[in-house]
Amino acid sequence: MPALVLLGAQWGDEGKGKATDLLGGSVDYVVRYQGGNNAGHTVVVGDQKYALHLLPSGILSPGCTPVIGNGVVVDPSVLLSELSGLNERGVDTSKLLLSGNAHIITPYNVTVDKVTERFLGKRKIGTTGRGIGPTYADKINRVGIRVQDLYDESILTQKVEAALDVKNQVLTKLYNRRAIAVDQVVEELLGYADQLAPFVADTVLVINKALENDQVVLFEGGQGTLLDIDHGTYPFVTSSNPTAGGACTGAGVGPTKISRVIGILKAYTTRVGAGPFPTELFDADGEALRRIGGERGVTTGRDRRCGWFDAVIARYATRVNGLTDFFLTKLDVLTGWEEIPVCVAYEIDGKRVEELPYSQSDFHHAKPIYETLPGWSEDITKAKSFTDLPKNARDYVKALEEMSGAPISAIGVGPGRDETIQINSFL
Ligand code: GDP
Ligand code: IMO
Ligand code: MG
Repeated sequence: MPALVLLGAQWGDEGKGKATDLLGGSVDYVVRYQGGNNAGHTVVVGDQKYALHLLPSGILSPGCTPVIGNGVVVDPSVLLSELSGLNERGVDTSKLLLSGNAHIITPYNVTVDKVTERFLGKRKIGTTGRGIGPTYADKINRVGIRVQDLYDESILTQKVEAALDVKNQVLTKLYNRRAIAVDQVVEELLGYADQLAPFVADTVLVINKALENDQVVLFEGGQGTLLDIDHGTYPFVTSSNPTAGGACTGAGVGPTKISRVIGILKAYTTRVGAGPFPTELFDADGEALRRIGGERGVTTGRDRRCGWFDAVIARYATRVNGLTDFFLTKLDVLTGWEEIPVCVAYEIDGKRVEELPYSQSDFHHAKPIYETLPGWSEDITKAKSFTDLPKNARDYVKALEEMSGAPISAIGVGPGRDETIQINSFL
């Protein structure tokens, strides 16, 4: 019963979509377990490029059943338009399963996300504005709407009423916005019910049965370890648990079932939105990483902040996720630098610190301590095995592996499925 978790080891956008798609051909199920359409996962198959937000990246592999787990927050209009977009391109999406317990992102959750950010002003998080935080807040406050509620009009109406009771007070009195009408929301949500009905399932049962039958299940994280609500750079985080434990709660599988946890790790670091980022570059190197790496958000189109590789963060990701492997991505982007600095520790208030500080103020003050590794200039995009890489690129990978605490089992040398060097098999 091999169950693998694949997650982001940094601040998201590490290349999870590509890695999941690569494995999609050899697994039976790919399950999203948290987050929503704040994610933007790019998958390149041949000359076709797909941007997925809510659908698991396994949707592009014909033999694989894609599952949206109970821990995901679902904007029905986004889901339906993503499905029809793929159908128009000839992708069969009929196998999709959607948990009846997943929470719905309602139009008022999106409104609250946007007005809250505006209200926070310069203290804003820089959210994707997709209603993610407010929907998870409703879930925890026990006033959330779940997919199954779309099939009981009376319950749906009562729940929307309960949710809007307080929200309309806040919207009108605090934010000076118009109140949202219960009927309109109910009508809109009911309008999605029939279209979603064929997909709705008891996904916990399906996934556990699959594991009992020795089928291979891959749990695909959105976002990344440092954006985790518990383990990330709070409050500059998303409102769910992308870390490995999130796969258990967000899909309904016990931790004893998980056999492998793969951390997707970019060969340098990026971040979108606000919050601390010790190795961030504000110079020509940062600009070059952005340009060569194509570091622009898939969801919001914002430029990503770029910086050198941070081994302190990678070690932390290894620990909080119990990583068994790394998939190192975008090594090709570093081609051409004479020397490549790598952050090995931080200096905080004059002291050398080897591990990620738990204190937010300490992390805000952390200055990177760099070691400089020699670069390479050879094109590595055609490399098929580790030995095809130039010596300095091999040494860079080995150094990162040593510092990060788990074996690097695959290396990305380009965005395409086949632009990957597999060192150890994941299955
Ligand atoms: P995700 O959110 O983790 O799935 O990552 P994104 O799709 O947001 O961002 C990763 C970007 O890097 C996408 O444009 C991918 O096509 C691209 N990518 C992934 N792996 C590699 C790689 O090894 N090399 C290069 N050059 N691009 C890659
Ligand atoms: P993928 O899956 C990078 C960031 C936002 C913001 C913070 C909170 O493509 O790696 P939210 O809308 O989730 O409440 O915003 O989290 N963020 C991401 N950054 N990649 C993502 O997803 C992200 N999803 C959310 O920019 O800083
Ligand atoms: Mg992304």
